[in-house]
Amino acid sequence: MGKTVAIQVKGLQSGFGESIIHNNLDLTIYKGEIIALVGGSGCGKTTLLKQLLGLHKPTRGEMTILGVDILKPGADLRVLQRRWGVLFQQGALFSSLSVLENVVFVLKELTTLSKDTIETIAYMKMKMAQFPLDSAHKYPSELSGGMLKRAALARAIVMDPELLFLDEPTAGLDPISAASLDALVVNLQKSLGLTIVLVTHDPDTLWTAVDRVAFLGDKRVLAVKPMAELVCDPHPVIQAYFASARTKRKEQHGN
Ligand SMILES: Nc1ncnc2c1ncn2[C@@H]1O[C@H](COP(=O)(O)OP(=O)(O)OP(=O)(O)O)[C@@H](O)[C@H]1O
Ligand SMILES: [Mg+2]
Repeated sequence: MGKTVAIQVKGLQSGFGESIIHNNLDLTIYKGEIIALVGGSGCGKTTLLKQLLGLHKPTRGEMTILGVDILKPGADLRVLQRRWGVLFQQGALFSSLSVLENVVFVLKELTTLSKDTIETIAYMKMKMAQFPLDSAHKYPSELSGGMLKRAALARAIVMDPELLFLDEPTAGLDPISAASLDALVVNLQKSLGLTIVLVTHDPDTLWTAVDRVAFLGDKRVLAVKPMAELVCDPHPVIQAYFASARTKRKEQHGN
């Protein structure tokens, strides 16, 4: 089966002031895969995600998303923005709007669909994200952490995106909620054929939900492999990262 490239990053260099964050970073992401970005704190995962979303400009390199060279001067990101959904770390829902109002927001802004159709789509997406529909009129401050993530996920998929970017989707959730969110992400990928890029520190997510893991270290991508192969990579930075007890336990269970 031939693989189609969804995202291609080549020779990326970026930094803030004097400090270099990425140097000669290469990464290829294929259509239909779930790929995780991992690496020690401060290695530049969130920065890379922001660059893919056009929110931060690298100093050098190439970045092509769904065939569009986003670093080309004059590149129009607006068309791409309709083709991707984003779940920011804090959920980033509008706190003054109910969940339903949050989910319909983009549909109202970007489409000319009727109010009824927009609400029907919003309820469909909330259902897909397994958000309890009887809480659709609640405000973000009235929701649990898991519900917030599901509401934000419903909003992220409202425009039927091809690409989904998730920043630490299971951070702060209890293990059961985290596992059910992981299962949901895999399900969404399968049912919608999405390409999913997620930043995570959660070993359970890496072992159960992800096809490949891109390990960031030494300012670049040191390896991109399925988790079972990555934990065997002899690179000292990779070995040090995975030396945590939780990860080892999983490894012994041969998941
Ligand atoms: N707006 C900014 N201005 C200056 N430095 C920044 C800015 N954003 C990030 N940095 C620096 O860039 C480096 C990479 O940050 P980034 O947030 O990408 O790390 P990360 O890999 O996501 O870490 P974590 O796992 O802790 O979230 C850090 O050293 C950080 O201090
Ligand atoms: Mg981060």
